[in-house]
Amino acid sequence: PTLYLITPTYTRLEQKADLTRLSHTLLHVRNLHWIVVEDSEVKTSLVTSFLANCGVQNTHLNSLTPKQVKLKSSDPQWLKPRGVLQRNAGLTWIRTALNPAKDKGVVYFADDDNTYSLELFEEMRQTQKVSVWPVGLVGGLRYESPVVQSGSVVGWHTFWKPERTFALDMAGFAVNLTIIFSHSNAVFSNNVPRGYLENSLLLDLAVKLKDLEPRADGCTKVLVWHTRTEKTKTKNEKITPSDINIEV
Ligand code: UGA
Ligand code: MN
Repeated sequence: PTLYLITPTYTRLEQKADLTRLSHTLLHVRNLHWIVVEDSEVKTSLVTSFLANCGVQNTHLNSLTPKQVKLKSSDPQWLKPRGVLQRNAGLTWIRTALNPAKDKGVVYFADDDNTYSLELFEEMRQTQKVSVWPVGLVGGLRYESPVVQSGSVVGWHTFWKPERTFALDMAGFAVNLTIIFSHSNAVFSNNVPRGYLENSLLLDLAVKLKDLEPRADGCTKVLVWHTRTEKTKTKNEKITPSDINIEV
């Protein structure tokens, strides 16, 4: 099966560095198609030329997050989720460009700033319905993880909202293409409480707890890390301006 990775990305000083690091990981993975979706009105020249030269088979899409994502102002818990429309654009591409009868594959939502081990990709390639595994450096813990008993997921090791049906980070699961095709209306929603993005997609896909396949040695190995790139301060540009024609 082919791995279809959907990566939302947005313009910031650190974007090319993050994309470069991720592409170097992906260059080591066979049979992979990288769907990169810019959060922008038009495709930027930076990402366009980056993707043309990165060496990873890819599709370049864009979809702008509206300035004001509608929130219930009465509910302080509702925040703007990130990457929602972009992941949905990736799902739409998959559902239109691929052939459900012919194409065998697994879909994974790979944010541009995380750290992925090569082992993770071979684990997710085995996905029959939905694979799950631990994610390191997330949720105020050393790692979050599905709780596995006798080979089945029975709960979640998480501090935050353990009552979620699927208390998973975006980096902690992959879905077989057949599930994406058989639930053609399932998408991410901007209208879910904070932390419920992943949960809502899996509910939309009619996934049941018993469908989950624990990977990474029964969820005992951390193969992906929720790293975050530090925001670079450019306070000295005022005094010593750089050449703006040099792409960073
Ligand atoms: C956490 C989760 O790991 C994300 O999967 C989830 O989307 C996010 O929270 C959320 O709350 O929505 P975090 O590290 O806080 O992730 O988020 P970012 O890495 O900043 O953003 C997630 C992805 O969306 C990245 O690939 C990023 O490039 C992209 N993004 C971010 C956009 O496309 N547009 C933005 O305005 C911001
Ligand atoms: Mn991130």
